[in-house]
Amino acid sequence: MSDQPSRKPLISGNWKMHLNHFDALRLVQELSYKVTEDDVAAVDISLHPPFTDLRTVQTVIDADRLPFLLGAQHCHHEEKGAFTGEVAPAMLAKLNVSYVIAGHSERREVFGETDETVNLKVRAILTAGMVPILCVGETLAERDAQQAEAKVAGQIRAGLDGVNAQQVAGMVIAYEPIWAIGTGRTASAEDAQAMCAFVRSTVRDTLGNDAAEGVRVQYGGSVKPANAKELMTQPDIDGALVGGASLEADPFARIAQYRL
Ligand code: 13P
Repeated sequence: MSDQPSRKPLISGNWKMHLNHFDALRLVQELSYKVTEDDVAAVDISLHPPFTDLRTVQTVIDADRLPFLLGAQHCHHEEKGAFTGEVAPAMLAKLNVSYVIAGHSERREVFGETDETVNLKVRAILTAGMVPILCVGETLAERDAQQAEAKVAGQIRAGLDGVNAQQVAGMVIAYEPIWAIGTGRTASAEDAQAMCAFVRSTVRDTLGNDAAEGVRVQYGGSVKPANAKELMTQPDIDGALVGGASLEADPFARIAQYRL
């Protein structure tokens, strides 16, 4: 039997369309005063600013050797071409971006991304040497209709199509119930654990045990300092994808310090 890989939690701040590059600089510096070496020994922390802030955040992380990993919120799947307004994976990799969110529910719902385009992005992000954070999650209507598992399983199978077990073992899947995003309404720790365990069992059924034990499963949806500990200490929750509470240093640092 192979050794069970230990999964270091990943706490990710998805800033969405907030904070210009001056705001970004200030937030990263404030965060750096609050986050300790012990924190980053225990958890990985990724920051996902808007595209226009990436270079600024990269520069301050590199210059001051800050213990944050750079992330992006989105990318196109093509390498280059006539795609006005889009950003290629290799452009992000060149900025030392480590993690790229793929298929956030806002991208799916507002910008029409499909399971197929999300899968193309996941593969392109891997090809460019970065780690995808594949987002999955059900609407309230789907949950009420007992369709949550079917929706999430379908998104995982489609999103990981053509990706091999070793690649998936190094990936992140974020379970974000759409009804909990930006609503202040968090899934209970029990419901979040059950769905994150279901994400892992779907990966196990599709790609085998090593992929399932390696993949990090984040929970996202109104994560706050007050609920971070009970969520993060669930056995199948390996981190958080944080929206609103990542826009200020104090709550985001406290989420990253949930174990204290
Ligand atoms: P909130 O934390 O604001 O609910 O956002 C969650 C989210 O969508 C992170 O990607």
